[in-house]
Amino acid sequence: MFQSRRRWNPQVQGMAMVTIRTERDGDAEGVRVVVAAAFPSDAEARLVDALRRGGRLVVSLVAVDGDRIVGYVAFSPVRTATGATGVGLAPVAVAASHRRRGIGAALIEAGLEACREAGYEWAVVLGDPAYYGRFGFAAATASGLRDEYGGGAAFQVMALVQGGVPVDGGLVRYAPEFGEV
Ligand SMILES: CC(C)(COP(=O)(O)OP(=O)(O)OC[C@H]1O[C@@H](n2cnc3c(N)ncnc32)[C@H](O)[C@@H]1OP(=O)(O)O)[C@@H](O)C(=O)NCCC(=O)NCCS
Repeated sequence: MFQSRRRWNPQVQGMAMVTIRTERDGDAEGVRVVVAAAFPSDAEARLVDALRRGGRLVVSLVAVDGDRIVGYVAFSPVRTATGATGVGLAPVAVAASHRRRGIGAALIEAGLEACREAGYEWAVVLGDPAYYGRFGFAAATASGLRDEYGGGAAFQVMALVQGGVPVDGGLVRYAPEFGEV
């Protein structure tokens, strides 16, 4: 169970304190709402439900404002062609009303820390390098890794411990639920 060590307080005057914590029983509906609203379809929300059912949510964190879930991030296992296991960050979502206040960054940073504490040594993400670069992600092709979706430069990797990124691991596969939704 991950609980952010610090109570994280967005630097916005007048905004109630937002807490980052592990998802718990009773959160699923709130997670569904925030994730479905953040993407063009409910595919990502259904993906989270499928990952939860499949026991693949290595790390699953919510951002809570009062009693409302306003943000969510999931990490699930990924595996290289050579058998190295890491984590994939997906999806991350913040309610439109709460964006650009650092909540997405706080979720991602807390999630990466929780993955590290769980013993994972590397993480991948498919997303905009301009956003994920700030967390330490860099082009995965430079490490000899590629993704199943032709993500190209959007497919990024970072070490969670020094030297943690597998070398020339080839194709990185996400959990099977990614192919089902
Ligand atoms: C991406 C998302 C989670 C960021 O949440 P957030 O709480 O606003 O994030 P932060 O406040 O930590 O960071 C906001 C900053 O990132 C930038 N940013 C946000 N989303 C971005 C994106 N997709 N690509 C590049 N930059 C992005 C913002 O412009 C802002 O930049 P600034 O700090 O220079 O102003 C949120 O915008 C969201 O839910 N988007 C819809 C779902 C989505 O696209 N998820 C990611 C899929 S890869």
